[in-house]
Amino acid sequence: MKSKLKIIAMVLLFLFIAIQVYQPTLNVDKGQVYQTDFIQSSNVPIEVGNILRTSCYDCHSNNTNYVWYDYIQPARFLVENHIKSAKEDLNFNDWGKYSNRKQERLLTSIKKQIKTGKMPLPSYTLMHKDAELNNAQIKILTSWLEEQE
Ligand code: HEC
Repeated sequence: MKSKLKIIAMVLLFLFIAIQVYQPTLNVDKGQVYQTDFIQSSNVPIEVGNILRTSCYDCHSNNTNYVWYDYIQPARFLVENHIKSAKEDLNFNDWGKYSNRKQERLLTSIKKQIKTGKMPLPSYTLMHKDAELNNAQIKILTSWLEEQE
């Protein structure tokens, strides 16, 4: 019985090491500046911009601030998958390329996601506490978004 457990432990350890080999391309742009960026192009107050950068840009832009455990599988895989689907829906760096209609739809959607606590993804803030929004930050974001309507 004991040796069986040992074998299982060895197999699990081997699998853990084996999946580390899979390292998808990192979402980093080395400080590139975007003319089309949301914060640059939409007269966003500094306060609002800072919150978005900390809580949203890790997934919704071309530059993620990774923390050390993001590099370890299977976290790496999950984070990279989130980034990919987040950017397909909304990439703040590409804001200026979107049509007026799309921008309007997204602004409404952003407000809704924040108000309902769906964004930033709770599975993400569990491990990335600095991205979590407190009530004061939610208020700052939603009041500013309401002014934009
Ligand atoms: C951990 C990554 C992550 C973070 C951080 C994050 N999002 Fe998302 N977001 C996603 C993913 C993934 C989707 C795609 C939809 C889904 O799978 O739920 C999404 C979808 C959205 C959508 C829907 C777009 C549409 O088509 O209507 C909006 C709006 C949005 N996010 C806003 C935000 C805002 C605002 C923040 C910060 C307060 C934020 N997100 C932070 C991952 C993230």
